[in-house]
Amino acid sequence: MDDWIDYYDSTHTIYASKLHRDLHFQGIARDIVGYIPSPDAVVLDYSCGEALSAGKVADACMTLILAEPAPGVRGRLIARFAPNTKIRVRSLDELRNMQEASVDLVVMNSVAQYMSASEFDAALAVIRRLLKPSGKFVLGDILQPEVGMGRDVLALLRFAARDGFLKDALVGLVATALSDYRQLRTKVGLQRYSEADILARLKKAGFSAVRAPKNIGHNPWRMTFVARPVSGT
Ligand SMILES: C[S@@+](CC[C@H](N)C(=O)[O-])C[C@H]1O[C@@H](n2cnc3c(N)ncnc32)[C@H](O)[C@@H]1O
Repeated sequence: MDDWIDYYDSTHTIYASKLHRDLHFQGIARDIVGYIPSPDAVVLDYSCGEALSAGKVADACMTLILAEPAPGVRGRLIARFAPNTKIRVRSLDELRNMQEASVDLVVMNSVAQYMSASEFDAALAVIRRLLKPSGKFVLGDILQPEVGMGRDVLALLRFAARDGFLKDALVGLVATALSDYRQLRTKVGLQRYSEADILARLKKAGFSAVRAPKNIGHNPWRMTFVARPVSGT
């Protein structure tokens, strides 16, 4: 296994159990819905993963584009959401050919850490092109340089204790520690950015951004940013 896309395309143990996975995607969908500006919005979820609760997001907007690079995950998304006429599934390459200024809200949650810095900048350019001038880009779950893996473990255990899957989470942590995840985290690593670094990258890509008071999802030690296109850039 060479990269994080392969990892997410494999039968990984990042979700400790079905309950954990379901609660994760329910929480993410709830947070995305909170950012949808109106029921006629076009929403893009960039690297959406399994997006098990995407139906809830689609209920709150006009069109939901689920973009995902991992081919196996994408195949499951196509099968899962075929009956939902509001949902389109796309590869990341296909996003480059979409009409510019056609999207009201782009969400990229828990993805930037898996990209190289240059991949991240390239993704920002694609997103900037797709957003309407009035659009919004929400960038979630950014890891900070000074916050280590211990906080990830603590955040997961707090989430598990609150929602009744603590035993699963403990077993899952051991499985993950012994898995490809641990190897990849050592070999390929995760990209971390300070608040100032993210704001500077967003500015360079043509956005004006602020840090949101609350991160998307369950980990309060990670950061979410809300960015708007700057006209004329
Ligand atoms: C932790 S999951 C996040 C899924 C979803 N956005 C969520 O919040 O649950 C990470 C996602 O990033 C994707 N990914 C991994 N490496 C990537 C890369 N280099 N470029 C774009 N996406 C990548 C994976 O395929 C996976 O869908």
